Amino acid sequence: MGDSAAERIETLLSGRRRVAVVSQSGVAAVHARPLTGALDRAGIAHEMFLVGDGEEHKTLATVEDLARRFARSGLLRGDAVVALGGGLVGDVAGFAAATYHRGIDVVQVPTTLLAMVDAAIGGKTGVNLPEGKNLVGAFHQPLGVLADPAVLATLPDREFRCGLGEVAKYALLGDDVLVDLLRERCGSLLARDREVLTEVVALCAADKARIVEADEGETSGLRARLNYGHTLAHAIETVAGYALAHGEAVGVGLVFAANLAAALERVGLAEVDRHHGMVAALGLPVEAPPGLRADDLIAVMARDKKSTGDLTFVLDGPGGIETVEGADERAVRTALAAIGVDA
Ligand SMILES: NC(=O)c1ccc[n+]([C@@H]2O[C@H](COP(=O)([O-])OP(=O)(O)OC[C@H]3O[C@@H](n4cnc5c(N)ncnc54)[C@H](O)[C@@H]3O)[C@@H](O)[C@H]2O)c1
Repeated sequence: MGDSAAERIETLLSGRRRVAVVSQSGVAAVHARPLTGALDRAGIAHEMFLVGDGEEHKTLATVEDLARRFARSGLLRGDAVVALGGGLVGDVAGFAAATYHRGIDVVQVPTTLLAMVDAAIGGKTGVNLPEGKNLVGAFHQPLGVLADPAVLATLPDREFRCGLGEVAKYALLGDDVLVDLLRERCGSLLARDREVLTEVVALCAADKARIVEADEGETSGLRARLNYGHTLAHAIETVAGYALAHGEAVGVGLVFAANLAAALERVGLAEVDRHHGMVAALGLPVEAPPGLRADDLIAVMARDKKSTGDLTFVLDGPGGIETVEGADERAVRTALAAIGVDA
């Protein structure tokens, strides 16, 4: 966490008695000091609670452990949690805050690009079960989200690419200012130029906030737009394991979505080119990894949680980007072939 975000946290939490900072050892070692310094200056007592690194730690057991440690440290209803980390810390700490004392305030301090543009915004928190990802959770809007792109300097390349997949998504969802910025400053973004990162994060975060505000409880279908490119991405992750990082799979998924919209005659081939160009410019793959079979991907996509049983996708079309149910399987196979998947 950089100094500017630290200053804002003083204002946001001023008057609080006690704060539980939830983080991971690797993140806390490099980024906690400005935060704890700010809390010290504001006269707020604080304690660090570390959670494990890796999706296998996003469990109810971790939340129970946190809640018990909160209780032992004397954290009360009017106190607050600060989540300092990537999406995993945000989800776990957010869910612990949503349920501890039936809900205490949380401030999200995202430290990955993915968390800054996506996970920290929108109030979704939760953990995985052995039966599936994010199956237990709560909507719990943070008191604030403090994203300081300075912390992204230490993020490993693969994690940075995970965020770029979501950046491509917001651009292709129709953020023309972002499209122009990416066209002009793509090289600087990939070099993690702080000024460009600040602009990109601000635009993407505002895009997500706008969509979430319009459909906070995920009832009108608008929020489903955020899954653009994700149906195939999740299927690739399921079938190919970790051959691709999540953001890379989203890149392929966006190109697939454009090809499918074209195969269904919802958009012209120029849209396919536009998606291809955007994803490639961000250094993300535009084709599926070798060896994947269409039957396997289709079987997984038919089980997608956003689906009502048949093949459901978020696709561009004459009326804009929307959920399309009952997509013709032949068109799906054509679109899969276009991104290099074996028949
Ligand atoms: N709640 C939501 O709306 C939402 C949305 C999207 C994703 N998610 C969830 O987010 C999680 C993925 O988040 P993620 O991609 O941020 O991964 P992550 O939180 O697992 O972080 C990835 C790695 O980067 C490290 N790291 C974090 N910040 C760093 C920094 N500044 N410098 C160096 N290393 C750093 C972490 O310790 C970890 O090893 C998943 O569990 C996913 O389900 C939630």
